[in-house]
Amino acid sequence: MLVLGIETSCDDTGVGIVADGKILTNEVSSQTLLHSRYGGVVPELASREHAAVIDLMVERALAAAGIKATELDLVAATRGPGLIGPLLVGLTYAKGLAWGLRRPFMGVHHLEGHLHGALAGTGAEPPFLVLIASGGHTHLYDVPAWGSYRLLGATRDDAAGEAFDKVARTLGLGYPGGPEIERLAAHGDERTVPFTVPMKGKQGYDFSFSGLKTAAVRFAEGGYAPADIAAGFQRVVVESLVGTLKRAARDFDRRRVVVAGGVAANQALRAALRESGLQVFLPPLDMTSDNGAMIALAAWNRWRRGEPADPLSLSAEPYLPLGEDS
Ligand code: KG4
Ligand code: ZN
Repeated sequence: MLVLGIETSCDDTGVGIVADGKILTNEVSSQTLLHSRYGGVVPELASREHAAVIDLMVERALAAAGIKATELDLVAATRGPGLIGPLLVGLTYAKGLAWGLRRPFMGVHHLEGHLHGALAGTGAEPPFLVLIASGGHTHLYDVPAWGSYRLLGATRDDAAGEAFDKVARTLGLGYPGGPEIERLAAHGDERTVPFTVPMKGKQGYDFSFSGLKTAAVRFAEGGYAPADIAAGFQRVVVESLVGTLKRAARDFDRRRVVVAGGVAANQALRAALRESGLQVFLPPLDMTSDNGAMIALAAWNRWRRGEPADPLSLSAEPYLPLGEDS
């Protein structure tokens, strides 16, 4: 069973191909450079770039997998959430390809894609908790069974990745901020700057990161060293994420947790998770950011469980809660 997955919800054009759940290829064309001078993703520029490279990326993925388009059994693409222009480029392309090949088509939820990217090759089955921490999301779900998502908590303001990006900008670092903060933090002391862990001691499983950005500005003005600010900020973000996960795992009696999204690339987070006593599933580093293989894997999982394909009338959805169709 050969599945091609396309991901264009934000600023990466990803095309992946999986054979019976095994990744054959995962081609990503990153737009990071294009947007870096603006300090964030410019939607219209992103749409244009996706449109410019999508044909080439599909051809490249087919060549890398050593297959012809006519051999594909299923074509999938991210349906939402994301930027509407970028989403439409990939989704419409996938529909056209599926229709032209007379093959079934599936639209995939972006976060379901991240979940499957983190589980790639592990064979892990629910129940588990899933934390998605990216530039747009910090969402914690309980997943009692495939396709069943119960939202336990989410950020009340900025997403974790967004906080990394904003604090990086405060410190005069580049975009995306996550890797920049991580690099700088390695030269700092994580206990010097008196950051407090957001939402600590609060009921529930929500997160809040916008106060950290304000605190970072204040600490920078107060003369603290940028490396110490980066290290302290990273420490409290990690404590907030891992602390909340551990509490939810205890409360819901779950041992397995899946952590995905761009922030899952952070080594301090990965180390804290490995020491958490939980059975943690993390994506390999090349699967933490947006890619097409994770979309193909999510579609394949639906298909193997006997779920129907989607109609070609399926719309792109900029806002799409997980576990609901629209
Ligand atoms: O999942 P992703 O590639 O795109 C979406 O937002 O869907 O996540 C990108 C986010 C950015 O905010 C970026 O700063 C953050 O993930 N990020 C990191 C690291 N690498 C990327 N945050 C912390 N540490 C990192 N090493
Ligand atoms: Zn993502």
